Amino acid sequence: MKTRAALLLETGASLQVTEIDVDPPKAGEVMIRMVASGLCHSDEHFRDGTFPVRTPCVTGHEGAGIVEMVGEGVQHLVPGDHVVLSFLPVCGHCRWCSRGQSNLCDRGANILDGQLLDGTYRFHHDGLDAGGVCMLGTFSEFATVSQFSCVKIEDKSVPLGPLALIGCGVPTGYGSAVHATNIEPGDTVVIFGSGGVGMNAVQGARIRNALNVVVVDPSDFKRESSKKFGATHTFASAEEAQQAVQDLTHGVGADSAIVTAGVVTEEILSNAIDSIRKAGTVVVTGVGPFDEKNIHTSGAVLAMYAKRIQGAVYGNCNPFEEIPRLIELYKSGQLMLDELITQEYTLDEVEQGYKDMLDNKNIRGLIRF
Ligand SMILES: NC(=O)c1ccc[n+]([C@@H]2O[C@H](COP(=O)([O-])OP(=O)(O)OC[C@H]3O[C@@H](n4cnc5c(N)ncnc54)[C@H](O)[C@@H]3O)[C@@H](O)[C@H]2O)c1
Ligand SMILES: [Zn+2]
Ligand SMILES: [Zn+2]
Repeated sequence: MKTRAALLLETGASLQVTEIDVDPPKAGEVMIRMVASGLCHSDEHFRDGTFPVRTPCVTGHEGAGIVEMVGEGVQHLVPGDHVVLSFLPVCGHCRWCSRGQSNLCDRGANILDGQLLDGTYRFHHDGLDAGGVCMLGTFSEFATVSQFSCVKIEDKSVPLGPLALIGCGVPTGYGSAVHATNIEPGDTVVIFGSGGVGMNAVQGARIRNALNVVVVDPSDFKRESSKKFGATHTFASAEEAQQAVQDLTHGVGADSAIVTAGVVTEEILSNAIDSIRKAGTVVVTGVGPFDEKNIHTSGAVLAMYAKRIQGAVYGNCNPFEEIPRLIELYKSGQLMLDELITQEYTLDEVEQGYKDMLDNKNIRGLIRF
């Protein structure tokens, strides 16, 4: 059938919103009628080649919608079910899923190619197969995805607009604070970059009762906004933050630092490593160019001060466990979602949405279908 989608024809091009073909679900697959999709910075990395993806493809990996059709053998979903789409599939059987690290599921190996698990594509345009990034392609009215990507939402009264953000930015930021950093009550944490992901690291730190939640972000709007989500101190530069952290911790240093800047550089990572105390942790969640070696530090300093650098994908969450839990936190009022959405767009306005993200006008932009 036909669907309207934002198509990336080649790396570096603008997204083209156009009518393309989408196949019905094969065995183990589900067609989703998209309700909303968040504008995560990673899709801009896919578009501009910072994270190279196979083209043509439909971008978008932070979405929520309603099951339209199910293929053979799908057991946990029927048409009409509400789902949040996980940007990494979870098979439940591989070595990583078995040990409770389903954010590392082996079935996610080809998310940048965008084909489904049988190695074929569900989007087509002009005689070419088009991938869906992260095995999704949420910038499309309809998308056919693996059942391993669909987290069923039992409570249909919860609006799917804000829930779209639980597909990526919310668990990635929250989990960076709660799982990857393991913040304890009374901790001091420095968060470098409080955009759509970092703002949720701020929320995670607040929910974990951190004492000092220090935000470094050059954008006035982001710094001001972060105070509503739980930041206790905000600074435009790492230098100012460094001095404050020393004062707040009586010269000890921060317990942890979380790097969630839009484009991660060696300078930001060095500042993060400098900000932590002995045996502190730097969590690296934001990314820069895939092949760039941008961590440069003294092995002796790491060794003698027992500092830890921890990478985190999907906030080291198990999506099928964490997504329902985050929805409950939202319903209880502890996790703010509506306040993350600064501006809504139509699919045709997707390029404007990304321009606004790069101009720091949005905490998160949201496409509403
Ligand atoms: N590891 C993962 O699983 C995962 C998942 C999603 C996104 N990401 C990555 O996380 C990063 C953040 O994504 P986002 O959607 O929040 O982006 P965003 O554009 O919404 O926010 C980025 C923020 O970084 C700030 N910033 C820019 N330069 C900075 C600096 N020098 N110091 C501190 N802050 C600075 C910006 O002002 C902005 O507020 C991106 O690199 C994205 O690709 C990683
Ligand atoms: Zn994302
Ligand atoms: Zn698995």
